[in-house]
Order: sequence, then structure tokens, then C-alpha cells
Amino acid sequence: MSPAAPMLVTEPAAIAALVGAARDRGRRVGFVPTMGALHEGHASLAAAAVEACDDVAVSIFVNPTQFGPHEDFQRYPRSLEADCRLLAARGVRWVFAPTVAAMYPPGNATRIVVEGPALPFEGALRPGHFSGVATVVHRLFRLVPADRAYFGAKDWQQTVVVRRMVADLGLPVTIVVLPTVREADGLALSSRNAYLSADERRRAVGLHAALVEADSGWSAGTPVETLEARMRRMIEAHGIAVDYASIVDPESLAPLQPAGPDTGSPGAGCDGPAESGAIALVAGRLGRTRLIDNRLLATRRPPGTT
Ligand code: PAF
Repeated sequence: MSPAAPMLVTEPAAIAALVGAARDRGRRVGFVPTMGALHEGHASLAAAAVEACDDVAVSIFVNPTQFGPHEDFQRYPRSLEADCRLLAARGVRWVFAPTVAAMYPPGNATRIVVEGPALPFEGALRPGHFSGVATVVHRLFRLVPADRAYFGAKDWQQTVVVRRMVADLGLPVTIVVLPTVREADGLALSSRNAYLSADERRRAVGLHAALVEADSGWSAGTPVETLEARMRRMIEAHGIAVDYASIVDPESLAPLQPAGPDTGSPGAGCDGPAESGAIALVAGRLGRTRLIDNRLLATRRPPGTT
């Protein structure tokens, strides 16, 4: 027997009523916010939510406010029917796929601005991006009042920004961050991988290769600047234009303190050892496609030991 299709809901008031009623009945609700074009990374979030919760909602909304004027909002892949089939197979109860007008009523003029960890990296290269993310995620959290919301570690900075917003605004939801799902050669799954030509796809593995290299250098106690330069060279050697290749604190995304690679906590559900005190972040462009990736770094050998 084929699995039951999730209920497709487009009206904000309708999803709020359905989820609110489930919560009133004492059911634990899980939520996975997405922009659709779902892949196994999203599927792993949905599966984890179904495992931990009684009812699960997935939103599919290509959010215009998180795209810059010259970015790929128009061509971002949209595949609602295939997405619903994938979610049916994972046991998701509701798919919330609102229109832009429903999410942003005419005359809308309110945005949420997160500073701190939202400022460097993607925040610097994509002005307004995290304000768009925070605004839509906040609105989604109001419409889908879930107990737990699931995000992938591939967008590490996004997970930090969302957790910052949830803490700062006292939102009653637990954020769960799950490991990046990868292709066999290490490429992180991303809806944007669909843009890559066959040649770009082969070269895209350079991002992950650089992260693996950084991880082993980090364990060996190699200085941060050496590792950053090494990552940059390795990515460029794959014909990828580097936007950044940095090692920073996983929570603040600030440069590491000289004495403290072992301080700090990356938070729940990470793509690496939970006690890691550093993360390598990379971003690069292959033709018109921009890809990001990251890796929490393993335990560092203290200087002077072999
Ligand atoms: O990660 C995404 O797909 C989006 O940034 C999100 C969290 C659904 C907000 O639009």
C-alpha cells in the first residue's frame, strides 16, 4: 500500500488551526521549514521529526526576501508534486505551501534583523539574506507552533542565526540541527547542485576535499592561517572561485581566540564531534552556482606534542 499523502495546506490560518488543534490535544509537533526541491538531506530531517514527534509539518516556500536582487529566486527549482511524494514516504502529516502574497501581505514593512553571527560570511556577501531568513522563519514558527524545528548543518551559519533569534526572542521551540547528508564523493546535498553541469559537478567535490584536509591539519596542530590558505588553494585547484575558507568559533563565528580552540560548544546535533570548538566554513562559485559547506573540526593536538 502506498503511504498516505500529506495534507497540502496553502492558507496560513488553516495550518495554524491544524497545528494548534494538534497541540491542544497534547500531540508533540515537529516542523521542517524548507524551500522545496527536496533531497535526501531534507528527507533525513523529516524522518527524524517523524521519529521524535506525533505529527510533522513541512513548509515549502521559496522565500523572496532572502534572495538578493541578482540571485536565483526566479530560477530556484520548484517541484511541489515530487516533494509531496518524498514527504509521503517519510510519514509527514502536513505540507504547508503558501503563496508569497499570503506570507507577505501587501504593504508589508516589517523585518527581523539579527546581528552578531549573522554579520560575517553569508551575511557580508549576501546583504539582507539573514534578515529574510529570520523574518520568514519567525513567521513560520508563529503559523506552525511546533515543539521542535529541524534544520540541516549544511547551512551552519543559518542554524546559528536561527538559534540566536529563538534565544533572543524567547520563542517556545527547540531547534534540532542534524548532520549534512553527502553524496558518495563527499559533496553536500543541496537543491542548488541541480544547477551544476557534469564538469562542475565533478569539480564541486573540491569544497569537501578542502574541509577534510583542514580537519586532518587541525588534528595535527597546524596553525589556523596555514590551514585557511591550504583550503583556499585546494578549492581553487578545483576551478572554484573562493568566497571564503575560514576556521572560526562555531557559535559566534568570530575568529578563534589564540588560547582557546577547545572552548565553546557547537550546540545540538552537529556534523562532527559535539565537543568541537572550531568549524571550517567554505563557500565558492562554479560558473553561476554558489555552494557552501562546513565541517566541525576534530580534537586538536596540543602544540608541542607529537
Ligand atoms: O534553509 C532553507 O531552506 C531556508 O533558508 C529556510 C530555513 C526554509 C527559510 O526560508
